[in-house]
Amino acid sequence: MSQPLIDPFERAISYLRVSVTDRCDFRCVYCMSENMTFLPKKELLTLEELDRLCSTFVRLGVQKLRITGGEPLVRRGIMTYFDAMSRHLESGALKELTLTTNGSQLEKYADDLAACGVKRINISLDTLDEAKFAEITRWGRLPQVIKGIDAAQKAGLRVKINTVALKGFNEDELFPLIDWCASRDMDLTFIEVMPMGDIGNENRLGQYWSLKDMRKTIGERFTMTDLAERTGGPARYIRLEETGQKIGFITPLTHNFCESCNRVRITCTGEIYTCLGQEGKSDLRAPLRAYPDTDFPLEEAIRAAIALKPKGHDFDYSRQELGGQMTRHMSHTGG
Ligand code: GTP
Ligand code: 5AD
Ligand code: SF4
Repeated sequence: MSQPLIDPFERAISYLRVSVTDRCDFRCVYCMSENMTFLPKKELLTLEELDRLCSTFVRLGVQKLRITGGEPLVRRGIMTYFDAMSRHLESGALKELTLTTNGSQLEKYADDLAACGVKRINISLDTLDEAKFAEITRWGRLPQVIKGIDAAQKAGLRVKINTVALKGFNEDELFPLIDWCASRDMDLTFIEVMPMGDIGNENRLGQYWSLKDMRKTIGERFTMTDLAERTGGPARYIRLEETGQKIGFITPLTHNFCESCNRVRITCTGEIYTCLGQEGKSDLRAPLRAYPDTDFPLEEAIRAAIALKPKGHDFDYSRQELGGQMTRHMSHTGG
């Protein structure tokens, strides 16, 4: 292996999040606007280019590859790419190949994903109420996602549910969601809503539900033990002693976790974003396309981008106004 990727704050980059499409079959209100303009196909990296780009990162020390979107499973031919990436699992270079999905296409793809060596997937789900689900995702339908979860578990995939905590929306479902995950043997992670994309700020401030407050509420019903265990992402986990289940908290607002950041993201057009909460980006598609026979210029471009990785994000809802707001939508970088 060549020199590993280390950023200016001594953080080793071992986790790559790859957005393979900006498209999605849902329109979650905190992620996209209703009328999104999507990129023309010629802008996208081809599946072969994605392979070359990700394989270069693996050679540079990336051990965890998470495929995101938009919705990654709506990208045509995506299983060819998963299958190609599975060779890095077989060689031992990659420790984990996984994805974050809205679950809509899992009925179709769960078996194929398991066959490619995927062991564990994260599925976004904010409510168990069909009408509320349709409201928050605009285009999504809950029964389809439940079928997807069934298929994933049947294929032997471990499922973690991601729930964005939204005051006045799913506050009343805290315990039903916890109970439902326990009954299906799924982990559950709550996420503080982040100010991404220009999609109604007053609304976002009003919907912000601090996970510090949520923890207190959970503590009224359960005995919580902090766990040292990590999944490689920003979540910190607790165990509920009464049920043994694991709950994660992703707290970009109440507890900044940037000091231990190990990740960078690439978009479906081959831009690298070294922080979710900053505008800084560099283009990797140009060196990828200009030098089809050597990866050296690409490696240099990756190192140059990582040398600019910022210390952290500036998300802030204090003083009743938004700080650190990002203009790009979450779907651009896949979270
Ligand atoms: P695990 O492998 O299960 O730990 O997954 P993960 O938490 O790394 O990935 P997932 O795609 O499930 O991400 C969950 C949430 O964490 C998403 O809303 C992401 O936007 C958020 N997230 C991941 N990394 C960062 C980060 O560096 N900064 C911020 N602010 N949020 C992040
Ligand atoms: N704030 C927090 N989480 C978000 N997600 C999408 N948009 C936001 C936001 N503005 C979540 C999705 C998915 C993950 C990749 O990011 O629900 O679980
Ligand atoms: Fe699609 Fe995920 Fe964004 Fe919802 S959060 S619109 S499912 S990309």
